[in-house]
Amino acid sequence: MRSRSITLLAVGLAVLAHGNLGCSNDSSGGEAGAGGKYGGNGGATPGAAGNGGATPGSAGNGGATPGSGGNGGSSGNGGGPEEPGGGARPRTRLLIDDDWRFTKGDPPGSTTDLAYSTPAVRSWVLPSGNDFLNDPAKRAARPDGNLGDGVAYVTASHDDSSWKSVNLPHDYAIEGPFTTSVSGSMGRLPSPGVAWYRKKLSLPASDAGKSIFIDIDGAMSYSMVWLNGQFVGGWPYGYASYRLDLTPYVKPGEDNVLAIRLDNPVPRDSNWQSGSSRWYPGAGIYRSVWLVKTDPVHVAQWGAYITTPEVSETSATVALKLTVDNDSKQDADVSVATAIFELDADGRRSDVAVASIAPVALQIPAGTSATADTEGAIASPRLWGTGPHQRPNRYVAVTTVQQEGETVDVHETPFGVRTLKFDPDAGFFLNGEHIKLNGVNNHHDLGALGAAVNVRALERQLEMLAEMGCNALRTAHNPPAPELLELADKMGFLVMDEAFDVWVREKAALDFHQIFPDWHEQDLRSLLRRDRNHPSVVMWSIGNEVGEQGGGAEGAAIAKELTGICHEEDPTRPTVSGMNSAKADGPFPGPIDAVGLNYQGTGVRSGPAQYPVFHSSFPDKFIVGTETTATLSSRGVYTFPVASGAGVPASDTAGQDSPGRQVSSYDLYFASWAYSPDKEFASQDRYSFVGGEFVWSGFDYLGEPTPFDSSRSSYFGIIDLAGFKKDRFYLYQAYWRPELPMAHILPHWTWPERTGQVTPVHVYTSGDEAELFLNGQSLGRKRKAQLEYRLRWDDVRYEAGELAVVAYKSGMEWATASVKTAGAASKLLLTPDRSTIAGDGRDLSFVTVAVADDEDRMAPRAMNSIHFEVSGPGEIVATDNGDPTDMTAFPSKDRKAFNGLALAIVRAKAGQKGQIVVSAKSNGLAEASTTLVAE
Ligand code: GAL
Repeated sequence: MRSRSITLLAVGLAVLAHGNLGCSNDSSGGEAGAGGKYGGNGGATPGAAGNGGATPGSAGNGGATPGSGGNGGSSGNGGGPEEPGGGARPRTRLLIDDDWRFTKGDPPGSTTDLAYSTPAVRSWVLPSGNDFLNDPAKRAARPDGNLGDGVAYVTASHDDSSWKSVNLPHDYAIEGPFTTSVSGSMGRLPSPGVAWYRKKLSLPASDAGKSIFIDIDGAMSYSMVWLNGQFVGGWPYGYASYRLDLTPYVKPGEDNVLAIRLDNPVPRDSNWQSGSSRWYPGAGIYRSVWLVKTDPVHVAQWGAYITTPEVSETSATVALKLTVDNDSKQDADVSVATAIFELDADGRRSDVAVASIAPVALQIPAGTSATADTEGAIASPRLWGTGPHQRPNRYVAVTTVQQEGETVDVHETPFGVRTLKFDPDAGFFLNGEHIKLNGVNNHHDLGALGAAVNVRALERQLEMLAEMGCNALRTAHNPPAPELLELADKMGFLVMDEAFDVWVREKAALDFHQIFPDWHEQDLRSLLRRDRNHPSVVMWSIGNEVGEQGGGAEGAAIAKELTGICHEEDPTRPTVSGMNSAKADGPFPGPIDAVGLNYQGTGVRSGPAQYPVFHSSFPDKFIVGTETTATLSSRGVYTFPVASGAGVPASDTAGQDSPGRQVSSYDLYFASWAYSPDKEFASQDRYSFVGGEFVWSGFDYLGEPTPFDSSRSSYFGIIDLAGFKKDRFYLYQAYWRPELPMAHILPHWTWPERTGQVTPVHVYTSGDEAELFLNGQSLGRKRKAQLEYRLRWDDVRYEAGELAVVAYKSGMEWATASVKTAGAASKLLLTPDRSTIAGDGRDLSFVTVAVADDEDRMAPRAMNSIHFEVSGPGEIVATDNGDPTDMTAFPSKDRKAFNGLALAIVRAKAGQKGQIVVSAKSNGLAEASTTLVAE
């Protein structure tokens, strides 16, 4: 363990320059208590079930710019050519995602207990977190000897040729099959259990003398890592990114063998409360892995922290706190200098620096670290912001470390310049502009792709959310993939970055509460250090509906400790915690910077709105709806009669098709602790001091299939699991993008059995009035009343034909929409979201299949079985349809349409180019195909 003793030696001179810094190498290259939703502690379970690189510049290896389809590199880790000339020795950062071997289970007959709960194992793993414990007395000493000696899979010579070949990111549970032995809450996928990964690493002899690290962006869970049979370290929390130092165990000039063991706790039964998670956690090394090689003197892991304490139109102060490690046996005298460049929308760096920070000297005794506080200024800064009036402009700070005139490290830190204001009375301000947080909560899974991170899949989600007018994300309820934050920076999303779902009180028996006492400080500090340079991150969430919120000193004490850690690591952002039952007169909210209300802001279980109550109890705190609505719906499903007013909790008699396990899409049915989107809009408009909302949830996700526990995935999403928009998408778009002319009609209009029956028609529009026509006959023009967000014609009697709407705004025609009765299904229509993709084995095309009639109208109730095939250099990774009850395994090439639609996710094979033909067949329907190009 290095001592982190020395701080600031000098403050760099701010140099305003529009020229190159002239570095010698710039490396261009269950709340307790009544009514809690989690059960236990007296809480009734409501509802029937559910239980409730962007490496800037050209440097780096494998650091594709997010959005280009590759798996982008994480920020702030720098990059550099493998063998730069001129005697310089900058770092390399290699993506080592390819060519791993994988198997499930421990070696047959192995008697060594490697579970973290075993005290000996725990004492081996704990030292890996030492850099993130501030009190030296809490740091653990590494035991003598070796852990896992004799376990076949850790030995370098073990023959793993019969193991499965996989590339990372890899989620081993997503391929299924679905099983009733895993709870609906955890998605009925086989994530529990032990798994092993191995990989050969060839290290050149020239690596001798370097510091060599493995950076794991995320592995689910309880990871333990060996190199050449020697235990390196581990990290239990499956959502954490962590680094381990391989240097003492590497053999330069030889083949080295990495072995990684993961352990997802196995529940005693399929009751959700026995599990490790309330949602599908994923399984495996589901994020990227990097090999980082540096000079022994190098910028520390997440060792650059940038803030912009003063920002005006003419200038922004850039404060860079830089920590340099000296892993060598000699003291080091170094000088650190920084050049600041603009990044364009694609992450390319400007040719010339726009500012610089003059060199600062640091003396770093052998085996220690030193930190310099340096400062520069950018003239006329281009601010980072979110649309429609602001742009997500970014910069990168390129720091050069020189020792005896030689460049020993070049480190890059992308960042943005923006000001945040959290006003208790007026809400959130970004760069002085009032911005409502139009946010959603999302879990980390990517539907049929599981938890395995894929940049294009994430980008597709964000593109759809942006189209809806969403500008904010809450990373429910854990640290996100680094790639998500890189995309948020690039695309202009505001992020509430969340650390934990539980503290010491459990929600499920095997969840994070088991290791909170051991790991909360390390997990929180590492999250903060990893993410604090992202301009997109605007708040730190320290917890979600933690069991400690209800009262007593315990919860307030933990909230105080966690907020204190956040302030130490990053005083520039407020903390928040999603509270569904904490009371405004209780002790819990006090130590937390902002008030985050889950459901109760607008009124949990039809209770009174708590936004005004908290506002008067905490007049100095910013307030936001951390979770709102929890409305339930299945895309394309409508039940009758339709609830009046603001809707009702979904039940067998209201909104639920219980035999079919679907929920009506009139957006008026919700979980028993929640309410409709319209009601939240009214609250937001009534209580203008509220900073905005984060809807539960943006996308459907695997697991938590409330209200039908036997399903596989949720009903909460505004967008379904396959990425198809539900009606709700347009309700939010109408409210969040008032300037966009749009109108949307629901339901579909193909109801042969309803002729003459009352079939209510609702219209979502950004206009303020609309006139509805059925087969050319006006059904009346209606105007939204105050605090009304949809127009409804509840007494329409169905007749086949065309429904059309003309929307008006301020008396002028604003938007039109229509929906027509579909004829008999006769064909399939294929539409790829992108027809040219990178042939890198990672980029994806999402191909939508619609079952259609002769006139290309989607048949909105078609459930035809579809068979997919692919020819050329591509493969179908997964298929889906957004149906929460569909238990066909995701890799299947056979998928039923769900209400007219199905999806095939296609990937080009790595290193291959050419035409990929995707075809779809279904009995009795004309076959269809589409051609993609892999470049
Ligand atoms: C909240 C909880 C979320 C999710 C949601 C469903 O209470 O924080 O994780 O369970 O309910 O409505």
